[in-house]
Amino acid sequence: MNTITSSSVFPSLSRIAVLATGGTIAGAAADATNTSGYQAGVVGVDQLLAVVPALSSVARIAAEQIASVDSKDMAMPLWTTLAQRINTLLASDEIDGVVVTHGTDTLEETAYLLHLTVKSDKPVVLTAAMRPASALSADGPLNLLNAVTVAAHAGSRGQGVLVAFNNRIHSARDVVKTSTYAVDAFQSPEVGALGWVQDGRVEFQRSVVRPHTLATEFVIGPNWPLVEIVTSYAGVSRLAVDALVGAGVRGIVVAGTGNGSIHASVQQALADAASQGVAVVRSSRVGSGHVMRNGAAADDALGFISAGSLNPYKARVLLMLALAAGGAGPVALQKVFDTY
Ligand code: SIN
Repeated sequence: MNTITSSSVFPSLSRIAVLATGGTIAGAAADATNTSGYQAGVVGVDQLLAVVPALSSVARIAAEQIASVDSKDMAMPLWTTLAQRINTLLASDEIDGVVVTHGTDTLEETAYLLHLTVKSDKPVVLTAAMRPASALSADGPLNLLNAVTVAAHAGSRGQGVLVAFNNRIHSARDVVKTSTYAVDAFQSPEVGALGWVQDGRVEFQRSVVRPHTLATEFVIGPNWPLVEIVTSYAGVSRLAVDALVGAGVRGIVVAGTGNGSIHASVQQALADAASQGVAVVRSSRVGSGHVMRNGAAADDALGFISAGSLNPYKARVLLMLALAAGGAGPVALQKVFDTY
């Protein structure tokens, strides 16, 4: 851990740990006008912090390089490492909050995982960037400053894991990436952002309703049940579902059409899987809204679970955690999805 500001100089400032994992925020290209052909995760955390001198008037920062990955390659062992490190840091009286720098591609999955497994009410804030650190008008430095500002703000305590991006503050449960290039890529469809941060000011406009962090039954562990995602689309066959069941999958999330409706061939394959004890969760590929239980499919009869308003990727995170916690059967698992 590398402390970059002195506690004796700013004794009243919050102590924030910045954990870097890679991503475009730490990306570099040969040319400042190149915002798509760059290597993610090559700029170290000390360099990310050094270009934002204003951080030293917001918080005392302790920086750690947890990983240097393009978040498309995020994997469960790194999730375990990250969540365990955050829990250790937040259990200490020396740390008031954590900021995680991350790639945008799977940020919403990591954020939701942490929302369900961090065991503290101290702020945890994820941030990222759409443009590499080497780009003209790179968005990373301001996003980082805003994330630390949010993590140091008293009102962020008890709100679960937050995402600070492009001046907005989102709940980890709701936020999704919605653009391949725009700096306002992160949105919370249906419910909107929790609040905003600008020029050192933080304002929350609503609070998080569903349980998170200290109020969940989930603990991070080394074991991750095999859960995969399949999609329903015109002309889809049952091949993928049958292959997954043959491979011993514990759960399948289906990214259905519309209200989680599923092509007849895949629906039959999923019903067969459910009858063999595989947990089958219906979500939607649409991008906003929710999937009504017994709406587009006869969930009670088929043994399916509705993901509600979770997208397929977040539904997979919740299903993995629920299965790891011993959850079994559609009734118990539906309760988990209705709760979180
Ligand atoms: C990544 O997710 O690591 C690369 C893309 C990004 O951060 O925008």
